Amino acid sequence: ADAAASTSNLGKVTVVAHRGASAYAPENTIAAFKLARKQRADMFELDVQETKDHKLVVIHDTTLARTTNVEEVFPDRAPWRVADFTLAEIRKLDAGSWFGAEYAGEPVPTLGESLRAMRHSGIGLLLEVKSPELYPGIEKRIADELRRNPLWLLPDPRERRLVVQSFNWESMERFSDIMPGVPIGLLGTPTVEQLPALAAYADQINPRHTDLTSAYVKRVHALGMEVFTWTVNDPAAMRNVIGLGVNGVITDKPDVLRQVLTGG
Ligand code: G3P
Ligand code: CA
Repeated sequence: ADAAASTSNLGKVTVVAHRGASAYAPENTIAAFKLARKQRADMFELDVQETKDHKLVVIHDTTLARTTNVEEVFPDRAPWRVADFTLAEIRKLDAGSWFGAEYAGEPVPTLGESLRAMRHSGIGLLLEVKSPELYPGIEKRIADELRRNPLWLLPDPRERRLVVQSFNWESMERFSDIMPGVPIGLLGTPTVEQLPALAAYADQINPRHTDLTSAYVKRVHALGMEVFTWTVNDPAAMRNVIGLGVNGVITDKPDVLRQVLTGG
């Protein structure tokens, strides 16, 4: 990327805190989302899955083992799949201690709690539907939860209050039928041949940052879509993707990205 391109895009880049400010607080917890706001992220990202009793919970892995103390609390329930536990069981777990003692007792939040905790903060939400193939009907349940929280559904797209994304593009096509007003992001790197058909329902293409080229970003833009890229934690890599013309950068370190954007 040339220097002119890398500076001209600076003011327009959206700072997205990946699973919250997850370099500094336990990922996918309210503590991490609040820290994202404090570090001046424009949006926070979270991952939504479904419990055995069809409640929406915020967690990245399809099992509870890495980010909670489930192995201690339910030692005989291996492999500890999210889908095999009720919400009441998941609420007994500690999703903070693995990260640091100061976060002991931080729960796995529900989607509803996350929406309510952050609704007056001014921050936007990049909502990832994680592994929807495991949870038939999850798109409708997410739409119902969003309708119960209408502050996240402001009609002006410039507010950029909410984007829903997934690696599962069929799930996103279903979601766009259910909630046509909500911008949709497709995670992954579609071929340039695939892009025009995807533009029928997608508003963003969101590739891994090492997949990006300036030509690819231009192609996506020419079809009227934006590019948000992940997960970029190193300042040099941040400058590189900004120079490629991306619209948003998803990072575990929103403070570092904000510093890069404001001239650090
Ligand atoms: O938001 C992009 C990023 O979250 C996708 O990957 O594995 O962190 O959910 P992953
Ligand atoms: Ca994610």
